[in-house]
Amino acid sequence: MKTMDLEEIRAHWQNWAVQYGTDLRATTKTSTLKAIEVDAFARAFCPIIEEKGEALKILEIGCGNGQNCLSLSRIFPAASFMGIDFISEMVAAAIKLKVSNQISDDRVVFREGNVLDLDLPKASFDIIFTDRCLINLNSDSLQQQAIKILSGKLKEDGYLLMIENSQSTYGEQNAARESVGLPPRAPAEFNHFFNETTLLPFLPSVGLKLLDIEDFISLHDLVLYVLVPMLNGGQVDYEHPIVEAATKLNIALSSARPSSLGGYGQNRLYRCRKSVNK
Ligand SMILES: C[S@@+](CC[C@H](N)C(=O)[O-])C[C@H]1O[C@@H](n2cnc3c(N)ncnc32)[C@H](O)[C@@H]1O
Repeated sequence: MKTMDLEEIRAHWQNWAVQYGTDLRATTKTSTLKAIEVDAFARAFCPIIEEKGEALKILEIGCGNGQNCLSLSRIFPAASFMGIDFISEMVAAAIKLKVSNQISDDRVVFREGNVLDLDLPKASFDIIFTDRCLINLNSDSLQQQAIKILSGKLKEDGYLLMIENSQSTYGEQNAARESVGLPPRAPAEFNHFFNETTLLPFLPSVGLKLLDIEDFISLHDLVLYVLVPMLNGGQVDYEHPIVEAATKLNIALSSARPSSLGGYGQNRLYRCRKSVNK
């Protein structure tokens, strides 16, 4: 399927921001996904806090209406969060949610900005994270440009954590669908999934070391995108009760044994560390 151009992608997100406001639906059709993503980020933050202390400076690029920053700020109350998104309506919704959650101090701030043109000082964050943001840049080279910019905003020994969709595990998921007679799905036209063959070798050139890749959502995605359609005339049903149950089990098993459920999720968590001169 053809990927949209950058202006069409921006229009898509503005449209969802206007339509859905503070609702999670502004950024995903899958509410269970969000619980698993927040759990994955929280688990990834813990060893960094052990190493660097609790008062971390954390940036989310492409923060949407603020769901991640607000949830994670409750789990890590001593950290400070900045969320940036290029859609003003997303930022306005994030601020509204922050106020309704009674988070009134400057510990969580939301601002408008584009990952490709970030007006932030160099080397100023302990953690930068993305969650399905960089896949909205429609080529490998634009994604690499964004990662280079983000690397420049990390302190030495800071961490870049990216939950992004992968062409390779999406391919595995489609192979699982085809093995039981379901047709392959295609990515949304506003997304360009990570091409690991070009992206992973690029990371060291911008001072990033890939620590690991966690497959944190395989069980959930196999149930949602393969098993439920098998029982449901080929249709995905985000509200099916077994998806909720799979979410709980997925979180419990990921916590005990990360990546133990195979590589079938459409998203992966790429954990990188800034490693200048190392
Ligand atoms: C799938 S949503 C995810 C939102 C949020 N990360 C979450 O997980 O709840 C992707 C977000 O990235 C934002 N985005 C896309 N391209 C961007 C860019 N070039 N710069 C900043 N934000 C961008 C969109 O506006 C949208 O809010």
